[in-house]
Amino acid sequence: MTDKIKIFSPATVANVSCGFDVLGFCLGTIGDEMVIKKTSNKGITISKIEGYDLPYATNKNVAGVSALALINDYNPDFGFEIEIYKQIKPGSGIGSSSASAAGSVYAINELLGRPYNTTELTNFAMKGEALASGCEHADNIAPALFGGFTLVKSCTPLKVLQIPCPADLYTTIVHPKIEIKTIESRAILPEKINLKQAVTQWANVGSLVHAMHVNDYDLIKASLEDVVIEPHRKKLIPNFDLIKTESIKAGALGCGISGSGPSIFSLSKGKQNAQAVAKAMQLVYSKTNIEFDIYVSPINTEGMKTMRID
Ligand code: HSE
Repeated sequence: MTDKIKIFSPATVANVSCGFDVLGFCLGTIGDEMVIKKTSNKGITISKIEGYDLPYATNKNVAGVSALALINDYNPDFGFEIEIYKQIKPGSGIGSSSASAAGSVYAINELLGRPYNTTELTNFAMKGEALASGCEHADNIAPALFGGFTLVKSCTPLKVLQIPCPADLYTTIVHPKIEIKTIESRAILPEKINLKQAVTQWANVGSLVHAMHVNDYDLIKASLEDVVIEPHRKKLIPNFDLIKTESIKAGALGCGISGSGPSIFSLSKGKQNAQAVAKAMQLVYSKTNIEFDIYVSPINTEGMKTMRID
């Protein structure tokens, strides 16, 4: 019987420019690690958090809240202890809270012998994500759990679509080390949007999804445009416009805000282009006094990974 599991819980990019709250993709080179053990005491305990200062109280920690949602449904006569080794900075815009929320339910499901499918796990993880962002949405959780590119067709009932993507699609992410809380960057968004902008936006979502299916890089490039959310949120991110212009000049297909920011993502055809974009991004931020990290990653089609089982 499996009593302990170590997992890799990947970072993710939500929205992907035009797909606010519905599109997302999974990263391969950055993510958290978590160790989860069965305990004879019932309930969920968070016993260790390394990397960032986060709450230990189960009902105040996103990993704890999603794990509680799962065990309240399953009702096992034992409990679980969670260790979190956080690599993804909270408030960075690359799915830090989702990695925690999705990681705990993935690991517990493995320890229970997989009673739940990935959609059910996404539903439990959304309870944790809601604690961080103030509302239930799955555009970071779905790619972390399913891997690859996903589209959340609806949250109630939850329906996640897996979108194929070209094998040599790479992302470059720059993370300026300022914190933008999702709850705050949602608060600045308008409640109503203009019809003309809405038409442009849903045309872009449809054409991006089509382009992914048929490996049409020109169409990916033409579809990576956000006329609804970016104009508001970019004001929170220093040098956003310059990073975007320079990334596209360096060969990116498109560039936008990763989730609710401050990270900025670009998509490129091939690793070489993605690395050229990384250099361009680096040049922009190295001329400021803002600390930053840069990641280059292929799209991670696997999602969550079990690293060790004891
Ligand atoms: N779709 C979400 C947003 C992602 O942009 O607010 C961050 O949780």
